[in-house]
Amino acid sequence: MIDFFPLVGPVFRLIDPETAHRMTVNALRLGLPPRRAGADDVRLKTQAMGREFPNPVGLAAGFDKNAEVPDAMLRLGFGFVEVGSVTPLAQPGNPRPRLFRLPEDRAVINRNGFNNEGLDVVERRLRTRRGRRGIVGANVGANKDSADRIGDYVACVKRLAGFAEFLTINISSPNTPGLRDLQGRDALDELLERTKVARTEITPAGEVPVPLVLKIAPDLDTEGREIVAETALRHAIDGMIISNTTIARPPLKGRHRDEAGGLSGVPLMAPSTDLLGEMYKLTAGRIMLVGTGGISSGADAYAKLRAGATLVQLYTALVYAGPALVGRIKADLAALLAADGFACVNDAVGVDIDL
Ligand code: FNR
Repeated sequence: MIDFFPLVGPVFRLIDPETAHRMTVNALRLGLPPRRAGADDVRLKTQAMGREFPNPVGLAAGFDKNAEVPDAMLRLGFGFVEVGSVTPLAQPGNPRPRLFRLPEDRAVINRNGFNNEGLDVVERRLRTRRGRRGIVGANVGANKDSADRIGDYVACVKRLAGFAEFLTINISSPNTPGLRDLQGRDALDELLERTKVARTEITPAGEVPVPLVLKIAPDLDTEGREIVAETALRHAIDGMIISNTTIARPPLKGRHRDEAGGLSGVPLMAPSTDLLGEMYKLTAGRIMLVGTGGISSGADAYAKLRAGATLVQLYTALVYAGPALVGRIKADLAALLAADGFACVNDAVGVDIDL
């Protein structure tokens, strides 16, 4: 789905988006495009989850669901890559077409439904890259037909903890019916309890446990937001990603605007940033937040930091702007930090929010 070459870009847009995406991942697997990006501005170094990130701009989940190309995406200049969502068993997802471009809105609607090759395959791929440089996290979900959805998360945590720099518990995909109910008080309590116990069980004595990060939906109401914040604080989780795609439909121009699924891209920037700021406030800045949703410029990334994010992620903007976007966002972000007198990313986190 990324138009790597200016010449084939317009042609790519004529191809069914899912086919274009497959072609892109295949090209990346062959090592075709990415030249290694240059070194990052020192101002972009970011401390989060006990690690140092070379820059705070990450690739969001969904682009590399099966961990085929994390190193190629790191070479494009991302500061970290999140693979997945992966579920314990391989599953086909929803019938195609299930991915729609809305170019007039710089947005995408998807209802993929966790199509992925399953835990065995993803574990094997992550295992082979162990010891390589670069921060790669894995996003985990539950199978559509699972009788014990929380058990699915537990299984994924146990299998992937040794092969990922962080694990994202994704309870916010709108495309698996009932999944987002795990954001409710009792279910979330049990989910966080059981995944933390699983993590403790598999962490060798004396080693630091893998950070657990919760990914939430932008469509939570006020009570839902308070429940998530309170439960996340009580379980002392290591981070939250705010947010996944939205089922809301702000005014849109693209002809696919009425397709069912999750909306991402520019129309998600404002609502996901509002939720980010609110969660920063509700958690009193005590949980590391990742700002995701609608970032297409350095200014957008900077706005997320100021609203409480320590790291940011993007996906949809790559579809329209191509891989050169990553370097542009980083350069503009470094300039914005410098112009406001911030020596590093961490100094700018949450400055727009009164705690
Ligand atoms: C996604 N996203 C996603 N998120 C997730 O946690 N697991 C997943 O499997 C997927 N799959 C997926 C597929 C497609 C085609 C898209 C566009 C998005 C959501 C993604 O990680 C991100 O949260 C949102 O897309 C918002 O960021 P952008 O795209 O507006 O930068």
